[in-house]
Amino acid sequence: MTDRFYITTPIYYPNGEPHLGHIYTTLCADTLARYHRLMGHDTYFLTGTDEHGIKMVKTAADQKITPQELADKNVAVFEAVWKELQITNNDFLRTSSDRHKKAVQEIVKKMLESGDIYLGSYEGWYDEGQEEFITETEAKDADFKSRISGRPLVRYSESTYFFKLTKYVEPVTKAIESGAIRVMPQARKNEILSKLKGWDQDLSISRASLKWGIQMPNDPEHVLYVWIDALSNYITALGFPPGGEQFSRYWPVATHLIGKEILWFHAFYWPAMLMSLGLNLPRVLFAHGWWTSGGQKMSKSMGNFIDLEKVRHVVATYSQDALRYYLLRAAAFGNDLDWEDVEFNKSYDELRNVVGNLLNRTLNMIAKYREGIVPAAGEMAEVDKIIAEPLSQLQATLTEAYANCDLQKCVLAPVELARAANAYIDATRPFTLAKDPAKAAELDRALHWIAQACCRVLVGLLPVMPHKAAAGLAQMGVDIAGKTLSQLLATPLAAGHKLGKAEVLFPPIETEKK
Ligand code: MSP
Repeated sequence: MTDRFYITTPIYYPNGEPHLGHIYTTLCADTLARYHRLMGHDTYFLTGTDEHGIKMVKTAADQKITPQELADKNVAVFEAVWKELQITNNDFLRTSSDRHKKAVQEIVKKMLESGDIYLGSYEGWYDEGQEEFITETEAKDADFKSRISGRPLVRYSESTYFFKLTKYVEPVTKAIESGAIRVMPQARKNEILSKLKGWDQDLSISRASLKWGIQMPNDPEHVLYVWIDALSNYITALGFPPGGEQFSRYWPVATHLIGKEILWFHAFYWPAMLMSLGLNLPRVLFAHGWWTSGGQKMSKSMGNFIDLEKVRHVVATYSQDALRYYLLRAAAFGNDLDWEDVEFNKSYDELRNVVGNLLNRTLNMIAKYREGIVPAAGEMAEVDKIIAEPLSQLQATLTEAYANCDLQKCVLAPVELARAANAYIDATRPFTLAKDPAKAAELDRALHWIAQACCRVLVGLLPVMPHKAAAGLAQMGVDIAGKTLSQLLATPLAAGHKLGKAEVLFPPIETEKK
């Protein structure tokens, strides 16, 4: 049976335009989706917007528009940006859509039938930016301020429906401990497990004072807590209730990619909801780190905010793929990351000097010395191991790195091979060999290996830099249509293969004066 892969991003609050944080998660998910498609896996990639909740209501009120108008305005920007960045999502789910609202009501009905919902009253703290209930102890420890935004917590006191979260503490703990749900990275998994230990509170899941949201099916006076509404998106988009084509195909082969600040909801509330619904659990939860900028938290007032305008400028100047490369290589996946223009320029130079340069040298040398035809390898010599070994390991390295969502390694492994190939050129010195007709066989061998390595570097980069890698492969005369990544990595360029003309893949960019 074909492997299946369902990848999701968080659904974003459209209370503003997308910024670096949203773009990062989406590009990471896009890279994983592209990899799995290239592997021939049956892949589905979902993103969307989370449009209900108090945060949307308040932002809309500030702008003197309705929450729906606010959502419509910003959703249009999200959709446009994903198009601009050529994100390959298969679906875009809006929580204000009828298909979602109807399915969520079915979900809540099912949870009511399971006896997991009861009426009570809530008195406690709420973080309106995070849409999160905060325990008394946590609130006190954080000086009654949001740990994310720093804004004061709000005191809520109201009648509400509760979901019996406490019933699921043990089974969810077991599911995480046993790896039934792989929570990554390990350090975050440990945090979740320790927070789960001794958790003794049910979850308030409705509000009577709020109108903007999905009505409770049993009590239209209450709207549903936004996180229950939002988490459901991962199955409403597949056409919940189960039984349909999409649902059977992609649930539960899910990988949920999220930021670290929302892992708790995904690692506890979501599995608990699924257990209440009698559904299988997702396979992977990966919590990535947060971007800062210039070593500081990104903030509009500090002027270090990497907003949409800045991202568009970077893309227009350096290309989409250069942005993808920088974001994915900036830190081990899961760690916090810091945007520095200087670092961006360094990563662009790395692309130019390592990958661009290898392609250029390969095509030019083979054009000059062998009329653009890949020569046969002949017998392998000791020096060829500089390339042959890393080349033979690339596929296994990538398979492992993608399976572990080790995106930084996914990016760097092909570049390491390019470095090895450049080192091989320096060691074999084809330009010197070319001067001596007695060294023709040696030159053939060197050019052969260089071409093989260059081709594999570009193939390995296809999920990360789809446009540049494909353009490079086109220059090498390699037709990638209809081929899987494994096929492309495993099949050598045949002796006699005709290469194309070298063109600059990463043009020099004059660094802007500030
Ligand atoms: N609507 C919820 C998610 C519901 S999912 C069922 C939400 N939305 S959000 O608009 O606040 O976006 C959160 C996501 O944006 C985070 O998970 C993270 O992926 C990303 N980021 C927002 N700012 C970020 C940084 N500064 N750095 C990295 N990613 C961050 O939470």
